[in-house]
Amino acid sequence: MTHMQQHILASAIILALVVVCGIHVFLFPMYTSNPPMRHTKVSVYEQALCRANPKHVKMPVEWKNPCPMYGIVSAVQGGRLGNQIWEYASVWATARRTGLEPFMPRCILKTLQQYFDNLSIPPLSYIGRCTLDIGQVVNSPGQWNSTDQNIIIPRHAAYWSLILGWLDDIRREFTLKPSLKKYAEIRLANIASTFNKSSPTFVGIHVRRTDYVDYLWQKFQVRAAPVEYYLSAMGYFSKKYKNVLFIVASDSIRWCKYNLRSSSHKITFISDIEARGVGRDLAVLAACNHSIIDYGTYGTFAAIMAAGETVVYNVSSYFSTMIAEVLPNWHIMS
Ligand SMILES: *[C@@H]1O[C@H](CO)[C@@H](O)[C@H](O)[C@H]1NC(C)=O
Ligand SMILES: *[C@@H]1O[C@H](CO)[C@@H](O)[C@H](O)[C@H]1NC(C)=O
Ligand SMILES: *[C@@H]1O[C@H](CO)[C@@H](O)[C@H](O)[C@H]1NC(C)=O
Ligand SMILES: *[C@@H]1O[C@H](CO)[C@@H](O)[C@H](O)[C@H]1NC(C)=O
Ligand SMILES: *[C@@H]1O[C@H](CO)[C@@H](O)[C@H](O)[C@H]1NC(C)=O
Repeated sequence: MTHMQQHILASAIILALVVVCGIHVFLFPMYTSNPPMRHTKVSVYEQALCRANPKHVKMPVEWKNPCPMYGIVSAVQGGRLGNQIWEYASVWATARRTGLEPFMPRCILKTLQQYFDNLSIPPLSYIGRCTLDIGQVVNSPGQWNSTDQNIIIPRHAAYWSLILGWLDDIRREFTLKPSLKKYAEIRLANIASTFNKSSPTFVGIHVRRTDYVDYLWQKFQVRAAPVEYYLSAMGYFSKKYKNVLFIVASDSIRWCKYNLRSSSHKITFISDIEARGVGRDLAVLAACNHSIIDYGTYGTFAAIMAAGETVVYNVSSYFSTMIAEVLPNWHIMS
């Protein structure tokens, strides 16, 4: 090694040491148990929880609301209707468990208020003028150890085990709009008369396809449920109940119409070809007596709303499978 090379090597080592010490000295204090106070206005923080700026979402503003004395519970917006229902339900249950006040970002409320009436959690804009210490944010009740900490639930989260403790209350919290309830009632009555059945048993089937097929493979190395799964689940209900009518909703109703035809079952396919009627489909599935679902947040919640017997596709350590392991009238089939 030449003298010059030795000099460069020595400089490199010293530089590396400086960088390592720098990281240690300057970054590690962020992770201590006393994080510095970093107060942010709630109205600004809310924007970070939403995909699009919620500024234009109009909510009644109640300025008389005092700023919370302790931390709050809220959530990050992620996914479509099914995900946002679970994000809301997770906030609701976490607030109930911890006693902290819940607030939802307006973007999530805007999604849900299209379908549900009288949701009890107020918008973050109620306390928009208050400040929140973002140095005191945790993601779940499990990490929460001080009433000063805020619990901000990550996008796509479903704290199902907390929620299962209060299923009847959750069903009441998610009260469908009267117009959707009426729609579902009429739809089911029409289907019953088409098949000339006076006291039918309605079994709602939700089939999740499109992007979820890839997601299942990427995340769980699991293939989409095969046609035989849906057929054997239908067989189970046909054998157990009288006058069974199957009601199929899906994000790919075309796939269902092609694959789930069966001369031995009475099946009606209700979804729009472009899956635009998510609220109407949810209302019909919720009005059914029993459910068959494969996976996904939307179908799982529809089955919870229907509150009947539910057959779930077996995906190991997947949340709807774990729910089925807990609830007595839920069954896992492969
Ligand atoms: C409380 O939780 C925070 C963040 O989860 C953690 O850094 C801290 O050590 C915990 N404090 C105690 C006393 O458990
Ligand atoms: C929502 O609350 C209002 C006022 O309490 C009540 O009149 C209305 O019936 C409720 N809506 C539903 C769908 O329960
Ligand atoms: C409907 O069923 C009843 C008895 O189940 C039968 O008397 C009636 O003729 C049927 N009507 C039609 C249109 O099939
Ligand atoms: C089945 O669902 C229909 C439609 O919601 C309802 O009218 C009927 O009472 C339910 N049957 C039972 C046994 O719960
Ligand atoms: C579900 O799958 C797992 C693993 O593949 C298996 O051990 C379990 O027995 C299955 N459960 C049912 C009810 O089919």
